[in-house]
Amino acid sequence: MAAGAVSSARALLELHHVEAGYGSLQILHDVSLHVNEGEVVAVIGPNGAGKSTTFKVIMGFITHLGGEIVFDGHSLVGQRPDRILAVGLGYVPQGRVVFSQMTVRENLQMGAYLQRDRAKINASMEYVFTLFPRLRERRRQLAGTMSGGEQQMLAMGRALMMQPKMMMLDEPSLGLSPRLVDDVFETIVALARGGLTVMLVEQNAARALEISDRGYVLELGRNRFEGTGQELLQNPEVRRMYLGGEARPVRVRHD
Ligand SMILES: Nc1ncnc2c1ncn2[C@@H]1O[C@H](COP(=O)(O)OP(=O)(O)OP(=O)(O)O)[C@@H](O)[C@H]1O
Ligand SMILES: [Mg+2]
Repeated sequence: MAAGAVSSARALLELHHVEAGYGSLQILHDVSLHVNEGEVVAVIGPNGAGKSTTFKVIMGFITHLGGEIVFDGHSLVGQRPDRILAVGLGYVPQGRVVFSQMTVRENLQMGAYLQRDRAKINASMEYVFTLFPRLRERRRQLAGTMSGGEQQMLAMGRALMMQPKMMMLDEPSLGLSPRLVDDVFETIVALARGGLTVMLVEQNAARALEISDRGYVLELGRNRFEGTGQELLQNPEVRRMYLGGEARPVRVRHD
């Protein structure tokens, strides 16, 4: 079974017929998807399919050309990114973006920059340190001198500092060694078990679908397939195009 504890079918995030791009260059064409409260949802597809672009339009970073984006009852269209963070949507961009000249602790504090309440900031930091003990050990180290895996933990930890209802993770396992990839997936499962709603983009499509309740395949900026994680893993066309072909046994690591 997938990691998310699906206790209700209330959609937390909904995209309806979204069109978006960079200036006048349209990349997303009629993209619709939703993420229910408590779910883990994977977005997969080839390079350039528009996966990161989908996250960027949700966060208000790029040009929205049409369609509706609703999070927890709020329309996100036309909202500033800091407002979107404040309503409970966390985002970890592709490429482990950390402030390299700041310490681990300062990076985490930056993640809570909208939070005024010291006690809440301390509680969030304690939660992040419990989730990632390595970050506690390294809290005085400059982020830029941390290993790739540690920087990924820090990027996730920073997004958790606002105690979001939902996290969007763009390629969290990219470029990590196999053991660290395992750690990242285990962390996502742990976050989902703790009640966090997660949408993740992954090159590691099979691994992502295994831990996901549902998934979407994007291609050329359009919806191509959707289904439960298991349906997509079993779909011969999805398998041939995105999962390396052969009928692989479905490995379910987490019950
Ligand atoms: N800042 C930008 N300006 C113009 N075009 C862009 C920009 N960023 C991305 N694109 C284009 O948008 C398309 C979708 O890119 P996007 O980054 O969303 O793909 P992706 O599915 O995340 O791919 P990958 O798996 O390589 O990360 C690509 O054709 C890309 O060249
Ligand atoms: Mg991308």
